[in-house]
Amino acid sequence: MSDGGHPRTNSGMFDTARDMKFHLELTDKCNAACPMCGRTQQMNRCLPDMEKVRNIDLDLATIRRNFPADLCSRISEIDLCGGLGDPAASRDCFEVCEYFMGFGIRLILSSNAGLRSADWWRRLGELFASNDSLVEFHIDGLSDTNHLYRVNTRFAKIMENAKAYLGTGARAEWHFIPFEHNQHQIAEALALSRDMGFKAFKVIDTIRFGKDEAFAYQMPDGESRALRPADPAVVDRQLGRDPKTAPEDRAESRGDSTKIQCKSVEENRPYIVASGAVSACCWVEGSADEKNMYAQAGRPHVEHNINKRLLSDILMEEPYRTIYAKAWDAKANPVCIRKCSKMRRSRRETF
Ligand SMILES: C[S@@+](CC[C@H](N)C(=O)[O-])C[C@H]1O[C@@H](n2cnc3c(N)ncnc32)[C@H](O)[C@@H]1O
Ligand code: SF4
Ligand code: SF4
Repeated sequence: MSDGGHPRTNSGMFDTARDMKFHLELTDKCNAACPMCGRTQQMNRCLPDMEKVRNIDLDLATIRRNFPADLCSRISEIDLCGGLGDPAASRDCFEVCEYFMGFGIRLILSSNAGLRSADWWRRLGELFASNDSLVEFHIDGLSDTNHLYRVNTRFAKIMENAKAYLGTGARAEWHFIPFEHNQHQIAEALALSRDMGFKAFKVIDTIRFGKDEAFAYQMPDGESRALRPADPAVVDRQLGRDPKTAPEDRAESRGDSTKIQCKSVEENRPYIVASGAVSACCWVEGSADEKNMYAQAGRPHVEHNINKRLLSDILMEEPYRTIYAKAWDAKANPVCIRKCSKMRRSRRETF
């Protein structure tokens, strides 16, 4: 990655004098209750797990304080996604987007799109169209199936919101997770996405079944259900793909599998969650690896919070200076090994 002509101020993991990207979780609130999401108690009517969810936001004032004009001038892209919430559910979502886009930063916002009015989505589209920012609409099915995974959402409302956004000419992608219950609708959803003006249709192979054949859950009305993986042959047929191409040949490859290549370092891209806590990435966030890194740094993780300290100071300190790099050399962090050497993540294919 280019250094953008700026002097290096830090030999550690992140360099705020260089071109940067960020991944922000604007909130841990969500209108939906996807059974496999970390926020959901799948066997308790898909209610939110209040041990994890605090119903908090990264508000505009906190963003402005930690992302001054000088830093924003070096940020090319920000992902508004996160692990426990939906960006559209955050109180200041629109204003935060407006603030970042005032610096020409390209945004990628991931949403179930079931929340907010069509007018809100139209205004977001008008904003996003100005610099090719993108909304990823995560829609796993059609009117009779999407709510079986995107629990508590209404397909008609999502379509209304998507149409209002797309009507502005702004960029959008439809992301679809195939399950047994929606696999027969992939071709129809792909055709609909093209009709509506989505720029791409992406099929996300979920890895959240692990070795299990089914994932049991309870709908909000108490009905017991189970998610089952899609049949690859059906998905191939729906996509008009050659089934003779073995899945391994389509899998993502990260090159040398013996070396940890930290994706956050490669992209100079820290992660900040809705509480304000700074992390190396969304995989390591909240993990035993992260606790271990902070224990070695001799500081509590709670200090590394942008509600308490400035982001630019936090990123210059341990464990980001040397401790993570040492752990990679020693192959000490299981999450880093799993995610950034032997790459295993939900594979995406674009159509
Ligand atoms: C926690 S969500 C946050 C953003 C937003 N609420 C959404 O769902 O797009 C983060 C990502 O997890 C994805 N996700 C949810 N369930 C998944 C699953 N079973 N397998 C793979 N990805 C999943 C979402 O589609 C989204 O891209
Ligand atoms: S929409 Fe996103 S944050 Fe909300 S429950 Fe589903 S995966 Fe989780
Ligand atoms: S899992 Fe570890 S190595 Fe991979 S991006 Fe996160 S911090 Fe870096």
